[in-house]
Amino acid sequence: MIDFYLNGQRQRLEGVSADTSILELLREQLDQIGTKEGCATGDCGACTVAIGEPDESGALGYHSANACVTPAHQLSGCHLVTVEGLADGERLHPAQAAMVECHGSQCGFCTPGIVMSLFTLYEDQQKRPAPLTQQRLEGVLGGNLCRCTGYRPIRDAALTMQDHPHATPAWAANPTLGKDVAALARDVGSSAGHADTGKAAGYAMPRDIAALRELKASRPDARLVAGGTDLWLETTQQVKDLADIIDVRRVAELTEIEEGDAGWWIGASVTLTRLMPLLAEHYPAFEHMMHRFAGSQIRNRATLGGNIANASPIGDTPPTLLALDARLRLDGPRGSREMALEDFFLDYKKIAMDADEFIAAVFLPRPTAGQQLKVWKLSKRREDDISAVLGAFSWRLEDGAMRDVHLAFGGMAAIPRRAPTAEAALEGSRPDAAAFAHARAALARELTPMADMRGSAEYRTLAAGNLLERLRLMIDADSDNNGDNNSTATKVTLDAYAH
Ligand code: FES
Ligand code: FES
Repeated sequence: MIDFYLNGQRQRLEGVSADTSILELLREQLDQIGTKEGCATGDCGACTVAIGEPDESGALGYHSANACVTPAHQLSGCHLVTVEGLADGERLHPAQAAMVECHGSQCGFCTPGIVMSLFTLYEDQQKRPAPLTQQRLEGVLGGNLCRCTGYRPIRDAALTMQDHPHATPAWAANPTLGKDVAALARDVGSSAGHADTGKAAGYAMPRDIAALRELKASRPDARLVAGGTDLWLETTQQVKDLADIIDVRRVAELTEIEEGDAGWWIGASVTLTRLMPLLAEHYPAFEHMMHRFAGSQIRNRATLGGNIANASPIGDTPPTLLALDARLRLDGPRGSREMALEDFFLDYKKIAMDADEFIAAVFLPRPTAGQQLKVWKLSKRREDDISAVLGAFSWRLEDGAMRDVHLAFGGMAAIPRRAPTAEAALEGSRPDAAAFAHARAALARELTPMADMRGSAEYRTLAAGNLLERLRLMIDADSDNNGDNNSTATKVTLDAYAH
């Protein structure tokens, strides 16, 4: 059963098939057709909804999500807000009123999704007012494509909606809504996973690692889902039935971040949005790249474990984690085991994990003294796009020579991988043109990229080599600035390179 609140009204739905998305549930079963389907791949944002989850105090925090790739069963214990739930009778919500006033809509197909993204921004501003910088607005709206209006009126709506008279949706007047949703969320925790353990198929939601192990052992063919942002494409694009699903999103041990002296064990179900503040503090270059990882709707649901387990050669976190010597903790009926992330990827979509195992956590080492990291993503569009090539480079300089050189790439082979021969060409060398020329030649020999619509093999080889040249120029610029990485001149140059 899916037990949740929709625009303030409790819904208890029986018999919803395991692979139903929120969008299908809304449009086909609940007759709520304000939420639109555009791409059905999580790319356009037309289907954006806001999902409210209670915090420890019972207060609801809302984040945007793409309804087309979010499992409907994940709504249990949540408050779903759709575009139908914003206006209070004739009184528009400020996000809607500002869009009208700023002429933020033409054909209007994208508009419900944009309004919902603005709603989450409005809610955020009510709780934690912060400057509406260009970067923040790009973060909020980067996952919403509009083909007719152009973004200036939409941006104007974002900037002015706070000036509209504060009009809350009708459901916001219910003072116990947060507590009611929190009570449902607790209930999901106490029953769903264990109750479903004995079933042959269906949608199971274990809440602890013991229940997950048990389920995975008894249903080895069940598909694991966390955010659903990749797996759900099998239903929307390949029209497959996913009848047997184990949801790891609420497994307590998989949602923790444990900090130790050597680094952080990050639970596999930690979302990318939740991870970003940690990255910003310790690996700013990693966090900088993450702003270009899909749109905020995806980052709010997608998980670190999911981005690794799907073993895509063009996933953005795996090459970056390879450059940082990340490790994995796998778990299953035979207990847990650790391995280097590098040993996990075997061949195209082939991973070193047994059918009854799952990724429990990812170890991110703490930066070492003097360690540098650069991560550059090349894609056709700056926001909300898939990499053609991603280069992640880690090194440190010792007496003018490069040490601990890690060069990792996405899009340059059937798996995300390092380039050991190119690394060897730089290890112990001064970062000069000759050493980088050797590294570039080695790179062209050792990596054999695939060709697809995002780039030919020749383009990818050329682009990856150019990233090495960018790295050399950057190190050069840094030394011209006496090693001051934060000097304005260097920063401006590198930011110009960044896109
Ligand atoms: Fe395009 Fe969902 S329909 S993101
Ligand atoms: Fe037509 Fe945005 S108004 S796509």
